[in-house]
Amino acid sequence: MKVIVARDYNELSEKAANILASHIVLKPNSVIGLATGSTPIGTYKELVRIYEEGRISFKEVVSFNLDEYYGLDKSNKQSYYYFMNKHLFNHINIKEENIHIPNGIAKDIELECKNYEGKIKQAGGIDIQLLGIGRNGHIGFNEPDVKFEALTHLVNLDEDTINANSRFFGSIDNVPKLAISMGIKTIMQSKKIILLASGSEKAKTIYNMIHEKITPELPASVLQLHQDVTVILDQGAAQLL
Ligand code: GLP
Repeated sequence: MKVIVARDYNELSEKAANILASHIVLKPNSVIGLATGSTPIGTYKELVRIYEEGRISFKEVVSFNLDEYYGLDKSNKQSYYYFMNKHLFNHINIKEENIHIPNGIAKDIELECKNYEGKIKQAGGIDIQLLGIGRNGHIGFNEPDVKFEALTHLVNLDEDTINANSRFFGSIDNVPKLAISMGIKTIMQSKKIILLASGSEKAKTIYNMIHEKITPELPASVLQLHQDVTVILDQGAAQLL
């Protein structure tokens, strides 16, 4: 794993956006994997700025998001579909048909998951996948004890994740308890991975991800086995390294 420690959150966001932008410049039809959560918001802001300056185009870019809450439709303000439009897609020239986010209200979830994998394959696989990390070490919504060989599937959210995400939902009772997520295998098949973490509350998890044993108890630890991972941290997240 390559570890970059940025001065602060702004520099972390700039570095992540620059890596994504250079990928798109070199391969205009890049297949990019995108993440939600608060950490990548700065990266998306920076990508929009680079786009507005005319330095990159998303005309041929294809995107796949990691996950979506089960039971939330596109218009729900807490859905990841809504999040992505708000923070990125509404501000760039990506084509609607090139955007992929799991459908949280699909009638047949198993089929939705299978089709999602099929679409990734058809697009030629993910060139570069952006990841955040949960406090419990989850990536996407792959919670501790996940099967490393899993592809896109329906997951039960961990209590810790439900607690952490309740800040967006007003009350803990409103947080969905299930989500559709790319599996660890889907993520590991990406050609390149960038993982972002900000703040001291992630420091222990980051230390364990990099230095401790690879275990489904800490899903992100599997990234030690990927051949091209760049971890971008701010001082807080890097403080135990
Ligand atoms: C959610 C998302 C993850 C994200 C995590 C951390 O659970 N499914 O993809 O990495 O939150 O979020 P934050 O960046 O807000 O700490």
